[in-house]
Amino acid sequence: MPINLELLCKQVCDLSKQTGNFIRLERHKFNTEQIEVKGKNDFVSYVDKTSEKMIIEGLERLLPEAGFIAEEGTSTKKGEHYNWIIDPLDGTTNFIHGLPCFAISIALMRDQQLVMGIIYEVNFDECFYAWEGSKAYLNEKEIRVSNIDQLYGSLIATGFPYYDYSRLNEYMELFKYFMQHTHGLRRLGSAATDLAYVACGRFEGFYEYCLQPWDVAAGAFIVQQAGGKVTDFNGGENYLFGREIVAGNSAFFDEFLDSVKQHFK
Ligand code: IPD
Ligand code: CA
Ligand code: CA
Repeated sequence: MPINLELLCKQVCDLSKQTGNFIRLERHKFNTEQIEVKGKNDFVSYVDKTSEKMIIEGLERLLPEAGFIAEEGTSTKKGEHYNWIIDPLDGTTNFIHGLPCFAISIALMRDQQLVMGIIYEVNFDECFYAWEGSKAYLNEKEIRVSNIDQLYGSLIATGFPYYDYSRLNEYMELFKYFMQHTHGLRRLGSAATDLAYVACGRFEGFYEYCLQPWDVAAGAFIVQQAGGKVTDFNGGENYLFGREIVAGNSAFFDEFLDSVKQHFK
C-alpha cells in the first residue's frame, strides 16, 4: 500500500510535540551532574537518549518497515527502502546551559531521496514540516524563504567548528567577509533551527561544516520545499553525508555560495 506522506507527517509532528514536552519538563529538573561527554565539546544526557527512545518507539508504530539513522544509536535497524534520520535533541549545549534554542529533527528518506522533514523547536513550540510534493509549513501556516536578493541586506546563520579545526583559517576569513558584507551573523547553536529559520525567511542563509546527516536532513528538505536552495560548499549535492552545507533563499543563493566557494577552495 502506498504511504500517505501527509498523514504520516502530521503524526510525526504530534510525536515530536509529545517528545518535546518531555524535554521541556526535564529542562526544569536538569543539573550538570547528568552530563556525559562523548568527545571534545560533544555532550549528551539521559534527556537526548530518552527523547530518541520515545521517537523511535513512536516511529516503529507508524511505519514498521522503516530503519533508522539516529544520533544516539538507539536502533541501527536498516530499512529496505525507508529510513528515518533522527536528531533527538539538536542544541544539546544550549540545553545543558539553560539557553533557549533546541529542537527535535526527524527526516524520512526513501532509498536515497529525502521525502519528509519535521523540526520541532521546543522553547517556542514551533513545528516546521514538509513532505514530498507539499509546501513547507510552520504550525499549519505556509512558509516561504525570504526574497532579499543580495548579500548586503541578508542575515546569515552559521555554527562554529568545535572539534575539527583543520579549516579554521578559511572559516575565519569567510566570517570576516560576511561580517563586512551582510546585515550580520548569528550562531544559535542548533543547526536544525538555523535551517528552519531559513525556510521561514528569518535568515537568508546558513552555512556550516562538520555536520552530521541528523543535523541537516530535515532542515535541508524543508528549505527546499519552502523555495530555497541547498548544496555542499562546491555547489554539489553532497550536503547530507558530506559534512558541509550551504542553504539559502534562491534570490541571493548564487552570491552567497560564491562567497563560500571563494574562501573554501
Ligand atoms: C550540534 C548543533 C550545533 C552545531 C553542531 C552540532 P547537537 O548538534 O546542531 O548548532 O554547530 O555542529 O553538532 O550536538 O547539539 O545535537
Ligand atoms: Ca545535532
Ligand atoms: Ca543531538
